Amino acid sequence: MIPVNTPLLSGNELKYVTECINSGWISSEGNFVSRFESDFSKYIGKEFGIAVSNGSAALDIAIRALNLSQGDEVIMPTFTIISPAQSLVSSGLVPVLVDSDEFTWNMDVSQIESKITNKTKAILVVHIYGLPVEMEPILELCKRYNLLLIEDAAEVHGQTYNGKLCGSFGDVSIFSFYPNKHITTGEGGMILTDNAQIKDRAQKLRNLAFEPNGRRFVHNEIGWNYRMTNLQAALGVAQLENISNHITRKRDIGMQYSNKLKGLKNFRLPVIETAYSHNIFWVFGLVANTKDNFDKLEDILNTNGIGHRPFFWCMHEQPVFKKMGFFQGESYPIAEKLSRLGLYLPSGLGISDDEISFICEKINSYNL
Ligand SMILES: Cc1ncc(COP(=O)(O)O)c(C=O)c1O
Repeated sequence: MIPVNTPLLSGNELKYVTECINSGWISSEGNFVSRFESDFSKYIGKEFGIAVSNGSAALDIAIRALNLSQGDEVIMPTFTIISPAQSLVSSGLVPVLVDSDEFTWNMDVSQIESKITNKTKAILVVHIYGLPVEMEPILELCKRYNLLLIEDAAEVHGQTYNGKLCGSFGDVSIFSFYPNKHITTGEGGMILTDNAQIKDRAQKLRNLAFEPNGRRFVHNEIGWNYRMTNLQAALGVAQLENISNHITRKRDIGMQYSNKLKGLKNFRLPVIETAYSHNIFWVFGLVANTKDNFDKLEDILNTNGIGHRPFFWCMHEQPVFKKMGFFQGESYPIAEKLSRLGLYLPSGLGISDDEISFICEKINSYNL
């Protein structure tokens, strides 16, 4: 079986985690946490980093820290993981959806303006599968309509848009460090911002909303325990030391797949470059032209022990949101097609060139 993801832990990970164990500093109080926050925020080019337990937690906090009001609207893509929509809804906000671009699989920015109302307070961009969202028109809309920008850069560590790092655009941005990401902490996430008030509020919310200067155990609001441990941060510091190698290797994996699978007649491969970026292939996706071809490919992968995952399922088709009364009668044809016809191949940093060749030979042998 070739798993859909294997991480690469080839640097100082063991050394730094051992330091935590030898010193006894294993909770969120240890020094690696602040070191990881400062190293990662510097790398992306943001003033403050707030490390948390995972990327979904980072979204919960980032969104709550903006102090929006119940019923405010936030425009976001329908084609994404549930985390951003779930964070909006659980903070009493209303996600307003746009369809995807057929080629980049990112939100179709040309649909955003028509969704802006007097309740719209923010645009939440999600960079999908390794290519950045087209940021220029979004930055222009944010300025013109006085909207906040929330940037979900969970899948694009080190990716750039016109030379500027993803995660550096948002009023508040988030990353995930799950093991399938370009750098991992096992589970983990981070909120980045240049705004000191957002930083203070995020630090408070991740720590049960303890009042930093008040009587301990007296609370004025509800927060979460979303703290990152020193053990996780130790992994993060070690991984960050190797991030440029990781990105180079991910590009290499993506290009090997692109070259070996370019003969597929019935599948669309990821776009390798756009006018503003080169793909860093968080995952290597394939989109079939018919459900029949999608099913055939799934069968081949299952028969040959090749791990894979279907693409995201659209937000407007999520039973949980339908039950809550959201997105009634809405339809986003491109995103629906992606969610039904797309899957991704083993794409983790730990995959070998031989494994990539094996996977491609198997797929190519079926004349798809
Ligand atoms: C775009 C996006 N946002 C948020 C998350 C959530 O991150 P986590 O799994 O760390 O909670 C993910 C996870 O892969 C993601 O892909």
